[in-house]
Amino acid sequence: MCEVTIFEVGPRDGLQNEEKFVDTDIKIELINRLSETGLKKIEVTSFVSPKWVPQMADAAEVMGGINRNPNVAYSALTPNLIGMEKAIASGVDEVAIFAAASETFSKRNINCSIEESLQRFIPVMAMAREHNIAVRGYVSCVTHCPYDGEIAPSDVAQVSEALLKLGCYEISLGDTIGKAAPGDIKALLKVLLTSIPVEKLALHCHDTYERALVNITAGLDMGIRTFDSSVAGLGGCPYAKGASGNVASEAVLEMLNEQGISTGVDLEKLNDVASFIKNKLK
Ligand code: HMG
Ligand code: MG
Repeated sequence: MCEVTIFEVGPRDGLQNEEKFVDTDIKIELINRLSETGLKKIEVTSFVSPKWVPQMADAAEVMGGINRNPNVAYSALTPNLIGMEKAIASGVDEVAIFAAASETFSKRNINCSIEESLQRFIPVMAMAREHNIAVRGYVSCVTHCPYDGEIAPSDVAQVSEALLKLGCYEISLGDTIGKAAPGDIKALLKVLLTSIPVEKLALHCHDTYERALVNITAGLDMGIRTFDSSVAGLGGCPYAKGASGNVASEAVLEMLNEQGISTGVDLEKLNDVASFIKNKLK
């Protein structure tokens, strides 16, 4: 059957919300272990303001400390030029810029309006181009916002198209607070697919209401082939009240394996990594 990419975001989206600072050595060991499971994409950290997200303050140490598997692309979030400069200096393979489909979330998360964020990304993209670094784009709150309520698919389309026009290779659609139902995902994709090729889209599901797997199934039905997830289901966004962890990578993998969909990821190895990090965070 088809092939799917699991984009592992646990070390970033998973750990960013941990209240107690997770030692840099543990983060590095987590990423090293994930690198040996067959995953091809790992989001390692964020080069964001340490005042905003103290858990990611060791971004450069983490990037610099990991053993690089040549089969893995290591990525990091970069909200602005300061973050981009630091990410490049640390040797990332790719970066992600992050916007939102909801004005209030944008303000709370990155302290600017959606339009301001798009302006801010222009020099970030120029720097990425100069250094030959691929850029992924996130759009948060694609169906629901913790502050503004329901979000219209046309708003998501507008931001997604703008990010693609800026040069992002892919848009990851964030169900930031896990409120989407499969019908919402299908309705959203139906609109987006009128102007965006399906291979440019990924789904990023949080599992707050335990609907992530059925939402992923809805995405699969509509042709999506890249899904973000966090090992052990870690995480959440510090600026989205009610956002719990991402869907667990091992649960996504198990579901895909059952359907005969290949990912190249070893379930036993991934389960071992999940046990490792659960033990460390106890
Ligand atoms: P600001 O306060 O407006 O920024 O924050 P500023 O430019 O005015 O700078 C303020 C201070 O921060 C200055 O330092 C800067 O140097 C410093 P000071 O002079 O006060 O000492 N600074 C930085 N330091 C390190 N790295 C940087 C950086 N930038 C400025 N990159 C800013 C604006 C965007 C920086 C801030 O709002 C921020 O860092 N936000 C990040 C929030 C975040 O990481 N949220 C979680 C990730 S998004 C998410 O989880 C959703 C996602 O998973 C998808 C989904 O689920 O929907 C992706
Ligand atoms: Mg997220």
